[in-house]
Amino acid sequence: KRVAILISGGGSNMVALARDMAGDHPARPVLVMANDPAAAGLARARDMGIDAAAVDHRPFRGDRAAFEAALMARLQEAAPDILCLAGFMRVLTEGFVARWQGRMLNIHPSLLPKYRGLDTHARALAAGDAEHGCTVHEVTPALDDGPILGQARVPVLPGDSPADLAARVLVEEHRLYPAVLRRFASGDRRPILTP
Ligand code: GRF
Repeated sequence: KRVAILISGGGSNMVALARDMAGDHPARPVLVMANDPAAAGLARARDMGIDAAAVDHRPFRGDRAAFEAALMARLQEAAPDILCLAGFMRVLTEGFVARWQGRMLNIHPSLLPKYRGLDTHARALAAGDAEHGCTVHEVTPALDDGPILGQARVPVLPGDSPADLAARVLVEEHRLYPAVLRRFASGDRRPILTP
């Protein structure tokens, strides 16, 4: 299976996925794409020998369809079977999602369906939750809402700042996402829900 990974920033999840695919694995990374030419993950992808490209969303000034047409053109060159959104911070239109539905995954830093959207760690702290975590799901037109393919949980500790919690969750993201992609790429859609 050919996997394209979409990022917006550091790409730590992309690195975790790529490292896992370097071993015996049903998939391999064929492209890393960022919506920001300055995304640090682009250089990390190239350092790992993965083709990397940027499609800057800013020139499109909110014309999402035009931006996505540019994304799609670059993706079609790479001809991926699976798309992994990994720290990708742009909302995708229904049209784009429809083209990839069933073959597009995303990782979100909360225990969905709790805390869709942004600032998930601060919201979990504000709610006084005893636990938090991350979710890998199939992407559907609704934001952070598709079938859950995996979840991992972390404790919320006394005195946690949002940054402390984000760091604890990120460690689990780097374990969960590769495990889910490995299973998904082998055709198994059973969710991975750690105890
Ligand atoms: C992190 O906040 C992570 O929780 C979320 O996207 C952000 C950046 O991730 N999935 P990455 O380091 O670019 O993969």
